[in-house]
Amino acid sequence: MGETVACPFHGWQFDPSGNCTKIPSIAEDAPIPKRAKIDSYPTEEIYDWVWVFLGDLPEDKRPAPPRLLPEFEQTETWRTTRMVIEAPANWQKFEENSLDTAHLAFVHATFGSRLDPKAVSVPIVRTPYGARLKREKTAPKASQKSGVLGELLKEEREKTTVELEFSVLGVCHRINPTFRPGLSQVTFSATTPIDAKTSRQFGLQARNYAIEPEHDQERLTGRWNAINEDIGVISFVRPALGPTAFRDEVLVRADEMESTFRHLVFRMIDAGWEIDHEKVQREWDRKVYVIPSPARRLDPTGWAHEACPTTKPRTDDGWDALLRDANTSSGVAAE
Ligand SMILES: [Fe+2]
Repeated sequence: MGETVACPFHGWQFDPSGNCTKIPSIAEDAPIPKRAKIDSYPTEEIYDWVWVFLGDLPEDKRPAPPRLLPEFEQTETWRTTRMVIEAPANWQKFEENSLDTAHLAFVHATFGSRLDPKAVSVPIVRTPYGARLKREKTAPKASQKSGVLGELLKEEREKTTVELEFSVLGVCHRINPTFRPGLSQVTFSATTPIDAKTSRQFGLQARNYAIEPEHDQERLTGRWNAINEDIGVISFVRPALGPTAFRDEVLVRADEMESTFRHLVFRMIDAGWEIDHEKVQREWDRKVYVIPSPARRLDPTGWAHEACPTTKPRTDDGWDALLRDANTSSGVAAE
């Protein structure tokens, strides 16, 4: 309703700051109770997605959402398709899978190469809230590709160069294979947890070949197939929830991107940013918890619902340390 949203149950209306502006069941001139307010969160539109900052940090401590797909704006030379997929998988397991190189040879029929499953050891570069690397891998056989990409790559190739970058903000990553000089695509995905074991992944894929719209469906089908190959594995792997303690697994050099991701997630958990979802789940039928918003931090009193519990106490110090590191870690090789 214009600048307000209305509850479909009793018609209460709320403005963008979360304050109630109308309660239809009371007289026009009756005062609106002070507690009639809800948490509202800062948003930003990027690539036609709405990014929401689900937290109570003031503006000067909120990191900007990552912009990892500049190709999205370069519509003369890049064509972008979009898809949304829901998976029966934990968001961290889903993301770690996307950062994983070692499974390609075994899980993916069209771009893995069992002829050479080794991951080349390369330096990982830390970025403010993530990391990036660039690897060369043995190209799959020409016969593994079909459609327009198969047609363009029918000559056997030796190497594909793949650049990979992730950010724990928005839980997103960019995968950029260059099949041949000048022939490239970029997949940019962001994962939102629906609950502990269900994730929704928003995906964009830009390509600089066959940019006519009639080739979109083929790319979407390719992506759909690849994601389903991943989901077929990760929805069964245990433990189902992440992050898994380092001592509970054996990780090798090829798993460095996952390790870096997991390390950052543990740091956020230590700073008190993990919702105690087991407690929330136990009390689900009797109690409503909400993620605290910036307005709640300014005035923690007079809210109908309690802020959600966290697995560790929230500390400003913990977040400030992350911010400090983010401001100094750009371009630094990870340990
Ligand atoms: Fe995969």
